[in-house]
Amino acid sequence: MIKFDIEKAVRERKSARSYKSRTLNDRDRERIKEWIAEITETTESSEPFSAPMRIRLLTVAKGTDTEKLGTYGVIRGVKEFLAVTVKNTENAPEAVGYHFERLVLAATSIGLGTCWLAGTFNREQFTEALDLKDDELFPIVCPIGYPMNKQTVINRVFRKASKSDQRREWSELFFENEFGTPLSKEHAGEYAFPLEMLRLAPSAANRQPWRIVMKDNHFHFYRMENPRSKYSYDLPRLDVGIGACHFHMAAQERSLDGEFTVLSDTGIAEPSDMKYLFTWISR
Ligand SMILES: Cc1cc2nc3c(=O)[nH]c(=O)nc-3n(C[C@H](O)[C@H](O)[C@H](O)COP(=O)(O)O)c2cc1C
Repeated sequence: MIKFDIEKAVRERKSARSYKSRTLNDRDRERIKEWIAEITETTESSEPFSAPMRIRLLTVAKGTDTEKLGTYGVIRGVKEFLAVTVKNTENAPEAVGYHFERLVLAATSIGLGTCWLAGTFNREQFTEALDLKDDELFPIVCPIGYPMNKQTVINRVFRKASKSDQRREWSELFFENEFGTPLSKEHAGEYAFPLEMLRLAPSAANRQPWRIVMKDNHFHFYRMENPRSKYSYDLPRLDVGIGACHFHMAAQERSLDGEFTVLSDTGIAEPSDMKYLFTWISR
């Protein structure tokens, strides 16, 4: 199992867009490969996040100008990318979020930089290397490498536009028994920690579309609809998968046992802009 300090990794992770121009050293490359193998092994048997997934570590060919390599100049210097492909199933978006974020956090724990990319990459330029099957989607690439301490102007522009250093307040995200009643940290009790780790998770354009209702030791996860979303792929759903990963890893670290499942009825009235996805039930 990948073991590391979850809180430290969650707090240290920040999207890196500027990297040192060197490939991963042998030790780090081996670790990443081992983790990829470990994660992909579980992607088909972890309901409700099961979806056959492939994660490839691609090295940029020598002499290629990384600035021109399909990331529209957003990512600088990096020599390696992780490419995620997944079978086009109903729950694929949240499965990608849930599983791939484990790798992102593990990479962070050994000092590597990453940046989920769903929008600012040119699929065609990467697809050649992937042997994509007809029933597979290719939603994500992610640079991986040694981050520069000083980030580029484009990174600063991105961070400012997405308010990347900010997160929504608890009262906007977490509810008790029903939507409309904010959940306080006091009432969340020992679950305040996994919820806080979820709150700090990355999301596309930092939209943080996750909403959670706590009721009788059940945590119901919803995706908030975003009518302005400009991507065809269901990124908000993928984001909620990332949040679920943070919640689950943090709960496990504190020995809070439980599991995710999909209920046919949560018994909670749903506002029209909310879509129910899954529930974490404590044991
Ligand atoms: C699913 C997903 C897709 C993303 N796509 C892009 C992208 O196309 N380009 C980019 O520069 N950043 C992208 N990001 C990074 C987000 O903008 C970033 O996570 C968010 O602003 C929060 O900042 P932080 O990761 O530094 O905490 C993406 C993040 C996620 C989770």
